[in-house]
Amino acid sequence: MYEKIEDLQNAIIDCKGCKLCNNRTNIVFGTGNINSKIMFIGEGPGADEDSQGIPFVGKAGKLMDNAFDIVGINREEVYIANIVKCRPPNNRDPQDDEINACINYLRNQVMIIKPKIIVLLGRIALQNILGKEYKITVSRGKWIEKKGIFYMPTWHPAALLRDETKKMDFINDLKEVINKE
Ligand code: URA
Ligand code: SF4
Repeated sequence: MYEKIEDLQNAIIDCKGCKLCNNRTNIVFGTGNINSKIMFIGEGPGADEDSQGIPFVGKAGKLMDNAFDIVGINREEVYIANIVKCRPPNNRDPQDDEINACINYLRNQVMIIKPKIIVLLGRIALQNILGKEYKITVSRGKWIEKKGIFYMPTWHPAALLRDETKKMDFINDLKEVINKE
């Protein structure tokens, strides 16, 4: 475990811990304010993220940014990361062996940042942080407290592309987060 975010980032820059290393362009480590009380956790990089090395800069990221604008969250003020740091081919779900290889990096990020609130973006984030027994359709929008951290499960931003009611849910969940601060 590293105590400084730069040390962690440097340590994994050439990571070959799982097969996702074979096709990646860039590791998408995570970005934002390491002193933030709020952290967002997504699933894994897509094509745009892979080419830029920054989380949520593609279509789903634009939707997230729009929702951030509506509720008054500044992307630079929060911290954003993913369950896996390299892009799964064709945007398939990350597999358990890949998640198991990668998730300690995310745990180390959480240890360093010490967020008060973690927003879990979609099923993959929810089930790999809180447990496979959780269902996003059931847990979405409801606070779950564990070991002093408040978790807010919500839709993955990509789901907002297809469903207007989910957009409203997402905005409401972000408002909950803002009001809890
Ligand atoms: N989807 C994710 O889960 N993470 C990203 O960084 C981009 C899209
Ligand atoms: Fe390493 Fe994670 Fe990338 Fe796999 S996904 S190669 S464990 S950084």
